[in-house]
Amino acid sequence: MAEEKWVVMVTAQTPTNIAVIKYWGKRDEVRILPINDSISVTLDPEHLCTLTTVAVSPSFDRDRMWLNGKEISLSGSRYQNCLREIRSRADDVEDKVKGIKIAKKDWEKLHLHIASHNNFPTAAGLASSAAGFACLVFSLAKLMNVNEDPSQLSAIARQGSGSACRSLFGGFVKWNMGNKEDGSDSVAVQLVDDKHWDDLVIIIAVVSSRQKETSSTSGMRESVETSLLLQHRAKEVVPVRILQMEEAIKNRDFTSFTKLTCTDSNQFHAVCMDTSPPIFYMNDTSHRIISLVEKWNRSAGTPEIAYTFDAGPNAVLIARNRKVAVELLQGLLYCFPPKPDTDMKSYVLGDTSIVKEAGLEGELPQGIKDKIGSQDQKGEVSYFICSRPGRGPVVLQDQTQALLDPQTGLPK
Ligand code: DP6
Repeated sequence: MAEEKWVVMVTAQTPTNIAVIKYWGKRDEVRILPINDSISVTLDPEHLCTLTTVAVSPSFDRDRMWLNGKEISLSGSRYQNCLREIRSRADDVEDKVKGIKIAKKDWEKLHLHIASHNNFPTAAGLASSAAGFACLVFSLAKLMNVNEDPSQLSAIARQGSGSACRSLFGGFVKWNMGNKEDGSDSVAVQLVDDKHWDDLVIIIAVVSSRQKETSSTSGMRESVETSLLLQHRAKEVVPVRILQMEEAIKNRDFTSFTKLTCTDSNQFHAVCMDTSPPIFYMNDTSHRIISLVEKWNRSAGTPEIAYTFDAGPNAVLIARNRKVAVELLQGLLYCFPPKPDTDMKSYVLGDTSIVKEAGLEGELPQGIKDKIGSQDQKGEVSYFICSRPGRGPVVLQDQTQALLDPQTGLPK
């Protein structure tokens, strides 16, 4: 087989996800098993996703990976665990057009090339590892003809990064913590698909930050070791909230959804404060955005916007519907205008049709000013991304989108 020159490859696209009931804390660091269930919303991959091409060829002499064009090491245990698990499930593959046959037993000897790219700035601190590991596992499963359902694949992606297991599905997704020691029941399941609640609009404020953040992995380890609040949260608070959140999602009950999403985000950050030494993920801008949303919801008389923050200062705002989202964007741009040298095209990304609808030239209507209070905080937000709930991973048939050259299997 060493003489042969063929390359077989698959390209897939996988979304990122944002937790509305947070995962924070592991009971097993190696298998990545959490101390509580979590629930997330998948973001539209058109706006935030990872694209991965995986290739196999008898001419490859070792496994290699390129992330955003730069070669990275695959020696870390998280990559190794994912590769081992997926290889052990590989099956016979036949490409009749090219006349190539790969037998199940050959996969142990064959090497892989992997190229991955995020369609959003990696430095933004948005859950890139979630989409990244989910896409790695999904594309390899397709390449190797792995005959497992997305939940079973989620248990492999979980071993790359916990939150990655939830990116195997679109819509709203629950990660069941499971209770088996081997982690086989710690899998993600889809609660509803992306069509179920498609009024929602998601606006992410990528907040400028100079501070080097504590990674989720080490932050949650420190919380597990030192925070009593985390123990109480995992045992008493989250189990009830999960049931309430499932109900709120099923009934599209935005009032309950907002209450649960915001309080869960706030409790997660309270756990970070309760950790010794304390961890600060949010900054003054994050706090200002929380105040803006709280004021907005109070003056509207009913919740119109939910907020949630992961392990960083970026705000994820979920608007009840498009009308609210358009007004919210107007308000946000009024409070956090771009610096004078920044144009709107690079300041609002994603679904830019919302910007057009927001009609940014005129004066901000008094009604919106009243909801937010007036303040001008230039430069505090790097940019906004407008999105919505989206679908799960897909294989891309269009070969021109592949990140590896079909002849050499090297990055294009
Ligand atoms: C705050 O999945 O990044 O985003 O499992 O150690 O890779 P590891 O951590 P990671 O943690 C995500 C934490 C969070 C909440 C969430 O996504 O549920």
